[in-house]
Amino acid sequence: MAKASVKIFPTLEELSWAAAARFEDLARICAIEKRNFCVALSGGLTPRLLYQILGSETFAGRIRWDNVHIFEVDERAVPPENPQSNFGMIRETLLSHISIPEENVHRMAGEAENLDEVCRQYSAELVRVLKPAKDEFPRLGLVILGMGPDGHTASLFPGSEALEEKVLWVRPNYIDKLKMKRLTLTFPVLNAAEEVLLLVAGADKAETVRKVLEGPPGQFPVQRVDPVNGRMSWFLDEAAARLLNSPPKG
Ligand code: 6PG
Repeated sequence: MAKASVKIFPTLEELSWAAAARFEDLARICAIEKRNFCVALSGGLTPRLLYQILGSETFAGRIRWDNVHIFEVDERAVPPENPQSNFGMIRETLLSHISIPEENVHRMAGEAENLDEVCRQYSAELVRVLKPAKDEFPRLGLVILGMGPDGHTASLFPGSEALEEKVLWVRPNYIDKLKMKRLTLTFPVLNAAEEVLLLVAGADKAETVRKVLEGPPGQFPVQRVDPVNGRMSWFLDEAAARLLNSPPKG
């Protein structure tokens, strides 16, 4: 994980504004380079403020949304109207506030009966939009991730089968401790991204943050996020960073 940068912000609000600014910069670079800005968004509580900022009246106008494609990092096996749905949350906080063409929004159909088929179709969608070269993984421009106190990221939980996935890009993953199925992008796709932002806030994550960043590798799923040919930054709030022995300076 040597390549990852770690930035600490006083509050979740400052962290979220910094993430929004990074999103804006990357979107602008893609627009200048005349290519799509393809982003995968996580669920959970932490990124909500970021999505609200991106969708706010003052911010939304800074981004050429017709150039942006939004994918999901993961999804619960529920319909979008269910309060647990990541898509429902992303729609409420961001999508319903911006003018983005419908065809640029790529939802994981968590409500479907055949989740393997949903994942196959989602992979086909990644191919159609991102056009990876033969035998290559699709390369997302930005992946927004979070981390649970158990060190999971996306829906890649400790001990679950999808951790070892090397071939499939998207797959269902049964989470034993939640007794539920989720859909998730896999590590090969996350690690093929141009940039990964890992957003972590709150004192309940501090112990795991310390172990993940300062302990030996191989202990937590999130330690496997390591873009092959891309950038990775941890954005922490002070509460999540408070147990680090050697916090980054500046
Ligand atoms: C989800 C996620 C998941 C999340 C972490 C952190 O669907 O819940 O994508 O990996 O990022 O569980 O969640 P919080 O931000 O709520 O702490």
